[in-house]
Amino acid sequence: MGVQDLRFVITGSGTGIGEATAKLAASKGAKVVVSDLNDEKGEAVAQAIREDGGAAVYEHCDVTDPDDVKALMEAAAEAFGGIDVLHNNAGIHETGLTDPGSCNIADMPIDVFKKVIEVNAVAPWICSKFALPYLRESHNASIINAASTGSQSAYPNNSAYGTSKGGIRLQTQNLAVDLAPLGIRVNCYGPTAIATNMVADYIKQSDDPAAFEQSLIATGLVPRLGQPVEVGELVCFLASPEAGFINGTYILIDGGSLAWRGTAADLGM
Ligand SMILES: NC(=O)c1ccc[n+]([C@@H]2O[C@H](COP(=O)([O-])OP(=O)(O)OC[C@H]3O[C@@H](n4cnc5c(N)ncnc54)[C@H](O)[C@@H]3O)[C@@H](O)[C@H]2O)c1
Repeated sequence: MGVQDLRFVITGSGTGIGEATAKLAASKGAKVVVSDLNDEKGEAVAQAIREDGGAAVYEHCDVTDPDDVKALMEAAAEAFGGIDVLHNNAGIHETGLTDPGSCNIADMPIDVFKKVIEVNAVAPWICSKFALPYLRESHNASIINAASTGSQSAYPNNSAYGTSKGGIRLQTQNLAVDLAPLGIRVNCYGPTAIATNMVADYIKQSDDPAAFEQSLIATGLVPRLGQPVEVGELVCFLASPEAGFINGTYILIDGGSLAWRGTAADLGM
């Protein structure tokens, strides 16, 4: 079973965790609609999947634009006959939108705060709404949202992102309730730092990036950055029929960093 023949829509899958999940799901037999703002990168991901013998198409979509989102879901249904899995992956961090030194409340422009909330918490709701007519026809429907350890714990220069991820975590639970009568499961997951461009930008905003990266890693019981494909494996599991009893929940994927209050050095690691 697994994700074989499941039809995925993955937002923001031109790079990072979305790209890795698209490629992994396709390698496991899923049919994948890759979508992104960045057409060059998104097309390249779909092309790479097809060259590896997988099934994928690319569709441009700015997740904050309801017309784009509606067109994405229509294109997905046309390409593969329906939608089984919506992976609301597209996301941004304030460090990608403004001068890295301006990401605390004293200096951050209000529009930056609002934009992060719009992309990370409002847009997944819009995507879920427009995917609904197709998901309700599926026999194994689920929505999988990208939350973060930032949905339960604070970090420096992270107030917009943390607010958005706390929001998507509660949105997940509320949509799970709304959609349970339709047989649609809704879950989310919370990674700590995963090796992608987003985290590279976040680390760069520190006065001492090398030390800051070390401090992020040091709190983990698995003291390294996570890999995008490790998150992809979790998404594929949550999407699969084997996860049919998992609904309305948040799953940490953080190398144990929130399990305790020490650092790896305390354990001689
Ligand atoms: N990398 C991490 O450590 C980490 C940790 C926790 C959660 N996450 C979440 O995982 C998701 C993916 O993160 P990533 O690290 O792969 O980031 P990334 O920056 O590598 O990729 C994000 C992708 O989203 C796309 N995107 C941005 N705005 C968009 C929009 N309006 N419409 C459509 N696409 C848009 C970008 O073009 C990019 O391809 C995000 O929601 C992020 O918050 C990441």
